[in-house]
Amino acid sequence: MKNDFVTEYAKITEAALARYMPSGDAPQKRLYEAMNYSIFAGGKRLRPMIMMMTAKMLGKSPDTVLPFACAMEMIHTYSLIHDDLPAMDNDDLRRGKPTNHKVFGEAEAILAGDALLTKAFEVVSGYDEDGVDKSRVLRAIKVLAVSAGSEGMVGGQDIDIYGDLSELDKLKHMHSLKTGAIIRASGVIGAILSGADEKQIRAVDEYCYNLGIAFQIQDDLLDVLGNEEALGKPIGSDADNNKSTYVTLCGTEKSQKLQEEYIKKAKASLNIFDNNEELLALADMLVNRRV
Ligand code: IPE
Ligand code: IPE
Ligand code: MG
Ligand code: MG
Ligand code: MG
Repeated sequence: MKNDFVTEYAKITEAALARYMPSGDAPQKRLYEAMNYSIFAGGKRLRPMIMMMTAKMLGKSPDTVLPFACAMEMIHTYSLIHDDLPAMDNDDLRRGKPTNHKVFGEAEAILAGDALLTKAFEVVSGYDEDGVDKSRVLRAIKVLAVSAGSEGMVGGQDIDIYGDLSELDKLKHMHSLKTGAIIRASGVIGAILSGADEKQIRAVDEYCYNLGIAFQIQDDLLDVLGNEEALGKPIGSDADNNKSTYVTLCGTEKSQKLQEEYIKKAKASLNIFDNNEELLALADMLVNRRV
């Protein structure tokens, strides 16, 4: 994830996040610290990137989607804080730093996650970009909410912990929710706010759906084959938690093959667009990512 355009999008995201995040002296300043600790711990900013690249493909600037891009990163970061808790994956390292609960304690980590999720909706409720129809903004808010909740990421986390993952189809469905849902929503929101028509929205959705599955397959692979220092999170977490993953269900070689197929499908979905270079390059970068 070192290409110039990728770094540029990450920088735009960080600067905008800094404008939205609460800070300063207040009775709950410990909560602010915990929220800021995780949001500025150095994530790849993949979801904001997808949103801004989609906007660019449709001829719009990052400003068109920036509040939603930041909101999505807040939701993603909250999901990581909660995912690492002892009651969930019980991990000690995230984004190269001790996990939120290791530094601030479990109660604060739960609250920091809650506050990031809520802040996301505060941020998008203030969206006022000229030239974007209010009905599109409302539609984007709904996509954001659904992708984060019981029919999206949280639903996927639930299936990951309590569901039946004994077959590949079931595992794929779980992946499509826990990881895929907010990745899909990132592209779809980018398209909606950029004035895309329904055919274009569907094409972006299909790109992101396939990219999301491929991304979580790589995450499963890296949990076995990765390097903790590069990754910034522990390897072997899935085995410690007896997780069913692509690696446990079909082995590393088949997982890699499947991942390549999903990346191919993702790229094919972008055929209808002219300026699709960045999203195509992003898909290629994700297959071989080590971080
Ligand atoms: C990690 O997401 C959790 C998954 C959904 C696989 P990322 O790999 O995007 O994590 P950051 O944001 O770069 O830390
Ligand atoms: C969880 O998947 C994705 C989230 C919704 C947070 P994992 O549990 O595999 O993510 P990592 O490996 O801890 O980042
Ligand atoms: Mg997990
Ligand atoms: Mg985890
Ligand atoms: Mg993982």
